[in-house]
Amino acid sequence: MKIAVFSAKRYDREFLDAANAGAHTLRYLAPHLDAETASLAAGFDAVCVFVNDTLDASVLETIAAFGVKLVALRCAGFNNVDTAAAARLGIGVVRVPAYSPYAVAEHAVALILALNRKLHRAYNRVREGNFSLEGLLGFDLHGRTVGVIGTGRIGAVFAGIMCGFGCEVLCYDPTHSPLPAGAKYVTLEEIYERSDIISLHCPLTPKNHHLISAGVLAGMKDGVMIINTSRGALLDTRAVIESLKSGKVGALGLDVYEEEGDLFFEDLSDKIIPDDIFSRLLTFPNVIITGHQAFFTREALKNIAATTIGNIAEWEKTRACKNAVK
Ligand code: NAI
Repeated sequence: MKIAVFSAKRYDREFLDAANAGAHTLRYLAPHLDAETASLAAGFDAVCVFVNDTLDASVLETIAAFGVKLVALRCAGFNNVDTAAAARLGIGVVRVPAYSPYAVAEHAVALILALNRKLHRAYNRVREGNFSLEGLLGFDLHGRTVGVIGTGRIGAVFAGIMCGFGCEVLCYDPTHSPLPAGAKYVTLEEIYERSDIISLHCPLTPKNHHLISAGVLAGMKDGVMIINTSRGALLDTRAVIESLKSGKVGALGLDVYEEEGDLFFEDLSDKIIPDDIFSRLLTFPNVIITGHQAFFTREALKNIAATTIGNIAEWEKTRACKNAVK
C-alpha cells in the first residue's frame, strides 16, 4: 500500500521504517492533515495520522475522492476523526489502542512530583547559585488522597503507582474494571470533595467535554492539584485559570491543552504565541505544562510503529482489523 504519513517527525520515520521493513511505501509529510493539506493525500491508498490531524467530514470527503480507503491513527484517542463520516464514505479507521500505559501513567506521576517538590523552580535556582529553600515547601505524598478519573489501561497503572506511594487512591469509572490492591471505586462527587490530587485518565467525548468546569472546581478541596495527561478539553481552561488565581487550585500539571493543535510538537521558540489563555497559564509558578510528551518513550514508539504497520497489513489483507474504530 502507498501511505501518506502526516505530521511526521524524525522519530516517526525512524520507528515506522524499522517496523515496516520495506513492506509498504511510506511517504513522510511534515504538515498536519487538515482542509488545507488534504490534497497531499492524492495518489495514496491510506493516510497515517496523529493526535492533532483533523479528519472531519470535509477532509474525509476530500481524501475519499482521491481513493484513500484507510485512516491509520498512530495513537489511541480518535476524537479528531468523524467516525460516522468515515463509515459513510467507506473509509476504514484503525488505531493503536494500547502502546505503553506505563509511559503516560509515569509522566502523570512525574508532573505530580515536580509540582509538589517544585523541581522546575529548584532547577533554575541552583543553576543561578540561589540555594534558598523559601517557596519550595512540599508535602509528603504518603497518606494523601489521590482521585483517579478513568481506570482504563493508563488510569489503572497510575492508581497502582500512587498506591505504592502510600496514598489513599479513590477511583471513578462508569465501568468497574479490576483495580490494583489498595485502590477503591467511589462516586465522582467523593473524588472531588476528598482528593488532594486529581488525575484525569478518561477519553474526551462530547459528554465529558469540560468535565472539570467552574462548578466542579468550586466543590474541590482548597489547594487541590489537578493533573491532565488525557485530552485538553476535559478541563475548562478559563475556569481553571480563575481557580489558580483564587488559590482553589494549588497546582496544575498539563500534558495536553484544549487548543494544542496550533502549538504542540513544533519549535515556536522564535515566534510570538498568539494564544492569551495559554500564555496566562505559563505565568503561574505552580503550573507545569509539557507539550503532549507523556507517550514519548522508546517502548511506546516501538509499539506504536509495530501496531500501526500490523493494522495496515491486516486491513490490506482482510478489509477488517481487530484495532478498527467502530
Ligand atoms: P482506556 O480506553 O483504556 O480507558 C479509558 C477509561 O475511561 C475507560 O475505562 C472508560 O470507561 C473510562 N471513562 C470514559 N468516560 C469516563 C468518564 N466520563 N469518567 C470516568 N471514566 C470514564 O484508555 P487509556 O489507554 O487508559 O487512555 C486514557 C486517555 O489517555 C486516552 O483516551 C487519551 O485521551 C489519553 N492519552 C494521552 C496520551 C499522552 O501522550 N498524553 C497518550 C495516550 C493516551
